[in-house]
Amino acid sequence: MRIDIISIFPGMFPAVLDESIIKRAQLKKKVRIFCHDLRDYTLDKHRKVDDRPFGGGSGMVLQVEPIFRAVQAIRKKTKSKPKVILLCPQGKKFDQSCARKLSACRNLVFICGHYEGIDERVREHLVDEEISIGDYVLTGGELAAMVVIDSLVRLIPGVLGDKNSLNFESFEGNLLEYPQYSRPAKFKNWPVPEVLLSGDHHKISVWRKAQSMQRTRMRRPDLLKK
Ligand code: ADE
Repeated sequence: MRIDIISIFPGMFPAVLDESIIKRAQLKKKVRIFCHDLRDYTLDKHRKVDDRPFGGGSGMVLQVEPIFRAVQAIRKKTKSKPKVILLCPQGKKFDQSCARKLSACRNLVFICGHYEGIDERVREHLVDEEISIGDYVLTGGELAAMVVIDSLVRLIPGVLGDKNSLNFESFEGNLLEYPQYSRPAKFKNWPVPEVLLSGDHHKISVWRKAQSMQRTRMRRPDLLKK
């Protein structure tokens, strides 16, 4: 997979993308990630990428032209028609099923929104999908892009070593994960559930399923309706 990110703050990304599992995924050549500074695509001599809104109003609007030029440059470079995603609070709410779908794409472009907004023509003519990571407003789309990229890269086949860790984690099958315990079995007087020390794999599996169900019912009953 190839991911291109268009942002006015490309310096925000290495701290997240060059660490841990995402870094290893890149070293294993499961994904290539490129960050583009939107200002490199403006024709303005001051590298300006925003302007006042037509019709008046507060704040600035990201202009269509530099974004168009950036997307065109990526299309040309990759000789592909990548899926172009805009991160913004008005987008479709991101979830695990969306992450799963994106993890199967070959080429993705993420545009990080900013300021009061983005020229609507970007949505109308360049963007395939708008994604929000939740009902709150961030200062820009960068953190949202990192959240989306993190969750989809770990789902690319071969990125995580243990296939089972994907099968049993939260949201797979619309259930939250069961509680986990590790050594020591005795710590203060906080015991580990007996069943987990029993060695009876069938009983353990039944217990875990029941815990998943109960936890989901208590914390996220909305997931059981899906
Ligand atoms: N940009 C600002 N807030 C956002 C959000 N909640 N999701 C995605 N992009 C955003």
